[in-house]
Amino acid sequence: MLDLVAQHRAIRDEVMAAMTAVVERQGFIMGPEVAQLEAAVASLSATRFAVGCASGTDALLLPLRALDLKPGDEVITTPFTFFATAGAIHNAGGRPVFVDIDPVTFNILPEAIEAAITPRTRAIIPVHLFGQMAAMERILPIAERHGLAVIEDGAQSIGARRKVNGSWRMTGELGTCGTLSFFPSKNLGGWGDGGMIVTQDEAFATRLLRQRLHGGSVQYFHDEVGTNSRLDTLQAAVLLAKLPHLAAWSEARRRNAARYTAAFAGSSDVRAPVTDPANEHIYNQYTLRVPRRDALLKHLQAREIGCAIYYPLSLHLQPCFAYLGYREGSLPVSEAASREVISLPVYPELSTAQQDAVVDAVRAFYT
Ligand SMILES: Cc1ncc(COP(=O)(O)O)c(C=O)c1O
Repeated sequence: MLDLVAQHRAIRDEVMAAMTAVVERQGFIMGPEVAQLEAAVASLSATRFAVGCASGTDALLLPLRALDLKPGDEVITTPFTFFATAGAIHNAGGRPVFVDIDPVTFNILPEAIEAAITPRTRAIIPVHLFGQMAAMERILPIAERHGLAVIEDGAQSIGARRKVNGSWRMTGELGTCGTLSFFPSKNLGGWGDGGMIVTQDEAFATRLLRQRLHGGSVQYFHDEVGTNSRLDTLQAAVLLAKLPHLAAWSEARRRNAARYTAAFAGSSDVRAPVTDPANEHIYNQYTLRVPRRDALLKHLQAREIGCAIYYPLSLHLQPCFAYLGYREGSLPVSEAASREVISLPVYPELSTAQQDAVVDAVRAFYT
């Protein structure tokens, strides 16, 4: 699915130099690279502030904690996402409320959000899934009408943008905050875990800065109970060295996606992913919808073709969320997606020959 060794070979000297500088200095905690990366990611995201943290999961958890949820407070999100989105709601003391998705983009359906709002609703978490943004221009007015926070889960969509009222708006730019993950498989991946929250709101950013450092703004004095969720300086150094390449990597992913989509255009079985015309996709994942998905998966695995299922079980049907009372059939569009999707390798270094082998293997299955 991913060839991180190929990426590393191409940028080895730059990343090793950045890493070595930290090692020679022996300054591992909150070194200058953290603030430098925060400034660079805020600039990329067109936000005023960015707060580094330990993972994309914590990037969700810290702002959710900052909402001071009371037991029974609800946060509306999509069931078709990585587990962390809903896990963070639970861990912040909230109750996840799942609503169905758009069958074309796999992103949360704005009209379903409106229908799920109750007096206990506190926030909405749209996920910009696979690298294209949710319909922010439809979600934000709903949030505004009901006084809700909007936390954009941008773990898969750093640098993705959407035309809103004629101008490009970045992932994380328009919500109360946006969250990013630097997990190694992301378009901008570290050498381990890392995350960041971007926001326009100074008071919110200050609260998050406190939250990531045990709730204190002055060392050993604690205004509230926070946690240790610093972004590691070594990770920040790696990410700073990689960041100048991000735009070209995402462009290469778009080129690979376009080649696949052209190759599958004639197939009546394989449905290629669709980019909402308002979006610029960054293709963290290239995800098909296909009949006989599980058999295709086995066929590709037997031929050692990289492929993966994101995600095989909608979150509303996960055993840990049984207490929420959802049943099979509750959210049919998400459930159908979980039965039909399969993601193919789309990483920037994928060669034409490798891509042709993937296409041939998929085609062979359906002929
Ligand atoms: C949509 C989404 N949200 C949150 C996360 C959590 O990020 P991390 O793995 O950095 O904790 C991920 C990571 O896979 C993700 O894809």
